[in-house]
Amino acid sequence: MSTSLSDLSASEELSNREQPEGHAPCDALPEASDAVFSRRTFVKGAGILSAGVASGLPRIAAAEKARVSAATAPQTIALTLKINGKQQALTIDTRTTLLDALREYLSLTGTKKGCDHGQCGACTVLVDGRRVNSCLTLAAVAQGSEITTIEGLAHGDELHPVQAAFLEHDGFQCGYCTPGQICSAVALLEEHRRGDLSQVSFQTGQTTTPQLTDNEIRERMSGNICRCAAYPNIVAAVRAAAQGARS
Ligand code: FES
Ligand code: FES
Repeated sequence: MSTSLSDLSASEELSNREQPEGHAPCDALPEASDAVFSRRTFVKGAGILSAGVASGLPRIAAAEKARVSAATAPQTIALTLKINGKQQALTIDTRTTLLDALREYLSLTGTKKGCDHGQCGACTVLVDGRRVNSCLTLAAVAQGSEITTIEGLAHGDELHPVQAAFLEHDGFQCGYCTPGQICSAVALLEEHRRGDLSQVSFQTGQTTTPQLTDNEIRERMSGNICRCAAYPNIVAAVRAAAQGARS
């Protein structure tokens, strides 16, 4: 690296400056030969150290690679799921979601994959009567439960009352969200029947037997997104199904 004239004059000026009070004088610094010796010693030591580390690195990397591949290697599990009243035996990767088990292994494609992140509700199914996002549920966890999908709601040719209400009130456009909306509405009616409360129940002060108003329906169905925005008709369908269930 070249040293410019301005650098030299600057260093000269610095060395000519008086030391401020309390500062160590320049002769307190180590002799040049000591400094060279220390630097050499340091560089030598560092070289030995890095050579040692470098020779160990491939082994550490290989061990880490083996650890990662063991941790991520597919592990399969044999399980039996009770879906729509039928026992279904499966051997699947332990990480398989209920949604993928339904769609990819059992061809129950009525349940839809929207976001695959628990945000849209398209994958809603009933597990022991409770609505769950099947994209967030491991299939292995659902073993021993009663799983109901959209395919299991009708009795033969007789539609479930919520399905019939969606048809009657035109509660869909493209229909992609509809299986999830219907499963969600089925659970909603049961939740309301047993007196479960929502945020709206607290806001309106109806904390004993809340009326299933349109606001209640909107709040309780808010986990199910409809990209076609068929919301007014969905609310009408749920309202009609609730009235039908009461009459
Ligand atoms: S696909 Fe499960 S919540 Fe969207
Ligand atoms: S009907 Fe199309 S997303 Fe809901």
